[in-house]
Amino acid sequence: MSIVIGVDVGTSGTKAVAMDPQGKLLASALVEYPLLTPKPGWAEQDPAEWKRAAFEALATLAHAPGVNPKEVKGIGLTGQMHGSVFLDADNQVLRNALLWCDQRTAPQCEAITSKVGETRLIEMVCNPALTGFTAPKILWLRDNEPEVYEKVRRVLLPKDYIRFELTGEFATDVADASGTLLFDVKNRTWHKELLSILDIPLDFLPRSYEGTDVTGKLSAEAAKRTGLPAGIPVIAGGGDQAAGGVGNGIVRPGVISSTVGTSGVVFAFAEKISLDPQGRVHTFCHSVPGKWHVMGVVLSAGGSLRWFRDALCQNEKAVAAETGRDPYEYITEAADTIPAGAEGLTFLPYLTGERTPHKDPYAKGAFVGLSLRHTRAHMARAVLEGVAFSMRDSLEIMREMGVPITQVRASGGGARSTVWRQIQADVNKTPLVTTNIDEGPAYGAALLATVETGLYKSVEEACDTIIRVVDTSTPNAALAARYDHDFALYQDTYKALAPGFRRAAATL
Ligand code: XUL
Repeated sequence: MSIVIGVDVGTSGTKAVAMDPQGKLLASALVEYPLLTPKPGWAEQDPAEWKRAAFEALATLAHAPGVNPKEVKGIGLTGQMHGSVFLDADNQVLRNALLWCDQRTAPQCEAITSKVGETRLIEMVCNPALTGFTAPKILWLRDNEPEVYEKVRRVLLPKDYIRFELTGEFATDVADASGTLLFDVKNRTWHKELLSILDIPLDFLPRSYEGTDVTGKLSAEAAKRTGLPAGIPVIAGGGDQAAGGVGNGIVRPGVISSTVGTSGVVFAFAEKISLDPQGRVHTFCHSVPGKWHVMGVVLSAGGSLRWFRDALCQNEKAVAAETGRDPYEYITEAADTIPAGAEGLTFLPYLTGERTPHKDPYAKGAFVGLSLRHTRAHMARAVLEGVAFSMRDSLEIMREMGVPITQVRASGGGARSTVWRQIQADVNKTPLVTTNIDEGPAYGAALLATVETGLYKSVEEACDTIIRVVDTSTPNAALAARYDHDFALYQDTYKALAPGFRRAAATL
């Protein structure tokens, strides 16, 4: 039997999965690590933790019953996008990596935008300067820690640091590279002119490959630490959204996905490059060779519900601990007892600023419209609806861009809740389906590894063979007008509060 492995260097942990050619999951392992927030708005991780976790997760797979290490034909890599691993001349990590959800780089984004011009920047790299992206992180280091910057010889994305530790090779893939703001997304190569304008050496960056390409082989050292044989091809893979898109079968026009993890992502396939001139959604290369994708990113989707659970639902957590159920089940069940619209309560989920559609690092979360009538269950409903509205914003922009939308596939932790899926279907007025695959980006990375290893002829063929729709939430037509009204109210609420968010940020 042939086996492929996918490794996802995520934000809460590194997950590795092993599957057979029919897509059957043979084993999976998750090793967690902390997220460090040394200052408000900052988010960092120690790359040594990723390395420890990746080796441990791979070793767990190598020793799992049902996995014969000799049968492993390829390893695909994926991971949280945009993060910056700074290496010195001896390939040693110089400081903790700045992550995708770190908001410290607003001044650098403003500097890039004023130097290049927003329209020109979008023409060059298909995207505007956003705080989460990699280029502003490099400039932040140069501006704030010049003594560290002086020693930098390489900048790697999180999963590509793991690639280096597994193979000794410096490489990335076109999808993850697209999120650096230094990549010519149209021509699928580093943007030399922008690099020179920003005075960032091209040498800092690894060679880029299409998602299914082989970038190196498992080294003897990595083989010793994992228990896998040396020489296994390590495939380029993709940023977690592109790999997750493959894992959801988003490889043809019309089928899009809505993923609610910590962040919320609406992801569409694009046969040809497709841009929002205002840069509210991202246009990146896809992990399907020669294709692109468009995506809207909401920074705190599942993150908003997790915050609500941890800040306000001690009772549900205590009961759940006694009954062995998940606290989220109690929270969503309570939300389901409240009518659509939460009786006038609106929640803005901008707990960590927002990308789509506002591009506003200063945005904050808010409950607006509270009255004596409102209970915690109303607040729970408002959180679920607010996140659904934030994702409808992306869908509306895609509709404006002419992106075809025939089916929306739900995935991520948020897709496990029937209540939340129904709210999303009602808010979007589009059926929301789930598929037989619920393993996230790691699974997509394993699928990408099936092509160069000869198990499938193309990513499309692998997805068509393996992925099936299993459940559909149909929109309730009676709620369409109610949610159209509430969506408009939600949008106006942000507009009214945005100047206040900026003023409040100035005092922090
Ligand atoms: C995508 C993004 C996040 C991270 C986290 O642009 O920032 O989805 O990749 O996983």
